[in-house]
Amino acid sequence: MSSNQKTETQATRGAAPILVTGGAGFIGSNFVLDWLASGNGPVVNLDKLTYAGNLANLASVEGNSAHTFVHGDICDGALVARLLAEYRPRAVVHFAAESHVDRSISGPEAFLRTNIDGTFKLLQAARGYYESLAGEERERFRFLHVSTDEVYGTLSPDDPAFHEETPYAPNSPYAASKAASDHLVRAWVHTYGLPAIITNCSNNYGPFQFPEKLIPLMVSNALQGKALPIYGDGRQVRDWLYVIDHCRALQTVLKRGRVGETYNVGGGNQRNNLEVVRTLCALLDELVPESKFRPHQQLVKYVTDRPGHDRRYAIDARKLETELDWHAQESFETGLRKTVEWYLANSAWVEGVTSGAYQQWVAQNYGNRGVEPATVQGTTTKEVLR
Ligand code: NAD
Ligand code: TYD
Repeated sequence: MSSNQKTETQATRGAAPILVTGGAGFIGSNFVLDWLASGNGPVVNLDKLTYAGNLANLASVEGNSAHTFVHGDICDGALVARLLAEYRPRAVVHFAAESHVDRSISGPEAFLRTNIDGTFKLLQAARGYYESLAGEERERFRFLHVSTDEVYGTLSPDDPAFHEETPYAPNSPYAASKAASDHLVRAWVHTYGLPAIITNCSNNYGPFQFPEKLIPLMVSNALQGKALPIYGDGRQVRDWLYVIDHCRALQTVLKRGRVGETYNVGGGNQRNNLEVVRTLCALLDELVPESKFRPHQQLVKYVTDRPGHDRRYAIDARKLETELDWHAQESFETGLRKTVEWYLANSAWVEGVTSGAYQQWVAQNYGNRGVEPATVQGTTTKEVLR
């Protein structure tokens, strides 16, 4: 823990807090910052600080008495039970997970541990806490489980988008572990009456995303003149959701969502990976005119595909839109511009998170795919992005 983060013994008293898990990761930290900025009340933030968790994401709330950071593991049931008893949160918002598909392929164990066993431990602790509540505290308590559209499997080009009744068909170890966690949450609602809600969202992008995921990886590599590795033919489609739109959806679901329900969250921005990278490269050409790697598109390199690569994800968010009146505010173009501008203005953050362990991951994931982790200097690219 950094010296200027509050310790857990300096608990915020007064308005009931929420307990956030994984609040030092990409979506969790955006959620915490947005929650605090919106004056929604205190946050207790439980995070193990894996490679994906960074206290630097929370630097702007250092010293904020409404934010209490606890360095710990959701698999530690006793710790979670103690935090619930001590802080008496009005909700648990559960982000903590292993979240990267490629890492789940090379090392699935951590995914089963955190995503399945960790969710189980959290549910058990939340159940014990909920059963101890009475009156208004019991009435308002919610467990919000943040999950993914990847539990639904893959779509063909003409298939309708995933809706809340789409059968589960997870294809990667990551998706299978999240599907398992969703099933646990459902069972804890059905069997024990835990007032939980599940959200399944599409691919997020925005500030503080770790540069192992497509968009920040491409920005980081392009700025250094490294290859932009496109898996397979690059025609895989994702439905991109700006992270703050997602955070607002979660706030909406917490306020007005119905217990036991699932809500799909999507940005309505289906793009294939080539389109995403092409748009990113054009933005970088514009925003970094002095770059010696312009046009950045020349850095694109096709590499060996991901095993079991899902072809298309798309979200039907009409339930959330019509029932709870949530609507995404960012188009892909406006959200991507904000994102690239953020990465350009925060190069120190990128440098801070791409140290030793990150370089090992890059060597492991891309070394066997036909891309050397070394600088490419823009000379080996196939001209395919048309
Ligand atoms: P992330 O990998 O950036 O962050 C995960 C956070 O959880 C990190 O801060 C990490 O330190 C923490 N963590 C991991 N294991 C832990 C443990 N055992 N105990 C406590 N903390 C632990 O993930 P993200 O992209 O912010 O995703 C957050 C949630 O949203 C995940 O549940 C993920 O499955 C889901 N989701 C993400 C996306 C996306 O596009 N990023 C899309 C759909 C769903
Ligand atoms: P990713 O950001 O890992 O999210 P997810 O696998 O959860 O959708 O990947 C998004 C898409 O980008 C996916 O189709 C895989 C592809 N991709 C690449 O082509 N190259 C890369 O280096 C990475 C990380 C992803």
